[in-house]
Amino acid sequence: MKQILAFDVYGTLIDTNGVFKHLQQMLGEGAHSFMEQWREKQLEYSFRRGLMDRHVDFSICTRQALQYTCSRLDVQLNDDHVDELMKAYTALPAFPEVEKALTACRDDGHKLYAFSNGSLSAIRQLMDHAGITGLFDGMISTEDVAMFKPSPVVYRHFIESTDTDKESAWLISGNSFDVIGALSYGMQAAWVQRSPDLLFDPWEYTPTAIIQDLTELPDALRDHSA
Ligand code: LAC
Repeated sequence: MKQILAFDVYGTLIDTNGVFKHLQQMLGEGAHSFMEQWREKQLEYSFRRGLMDRHVDFSICTRQALQYTCSRLDVQLNDDHVDELMKAYTALPAFPEVEKALTACRDDGHKLYAFSNGSLSAIRQLMDHAGITGLFDGMISTEDVAMFKPSPVVYRHFIESTDTDKESAWLISGNSFDVIGALSYGMQAAWVQRSPDLLFDPWEYTPTAIIQDLTELPDALRDHSA
């Protein structure tokens, strides 16, 4: 059965750890912890803005989280460093298996969409940079509805934009909050557990499929097709 696939971008197709080498040059051994706190704060800001109904471009969450992380960890970055990091965020690399895995999904007849909190122009830029734009049937940003994941508003927007049934659409994401959001809305969802020590939140939701990386996706979709 042909499926409609919504690929999360940051942390699923695109490796947010791509900023590590920049941080390492700037900070040395504190780079890893800085990177993790920056990403966590970025997501927290998006959740809070969603709850407050105060949407901004996702890059503002990224920039403000960077500012916060600097203060929190007592790190002084000059303007050039901040610019370098923000620029690096617009040119993050794709995970190594992405092109091959998405090509296999296309060959199986599925329809592929990038679906992200990032603005449409940010998603396009990342996909162009990774050389994978041509693999997608479309790109959908939550900015269209001025809301962030995991609000049901954004999953509904995806379903309406692709003119599909929620039961037959899949979210593919490495972010467990995103997977739970999609399941709660009524979609199918595959969790990409890129490392065995990553935990799925112990809520009342179970991913439709769990895969270690995207190369396992075509088989997982086959196993779940009616
Ligand atoms: C995204 C974030 C949640 O791409 O990773 O939507």
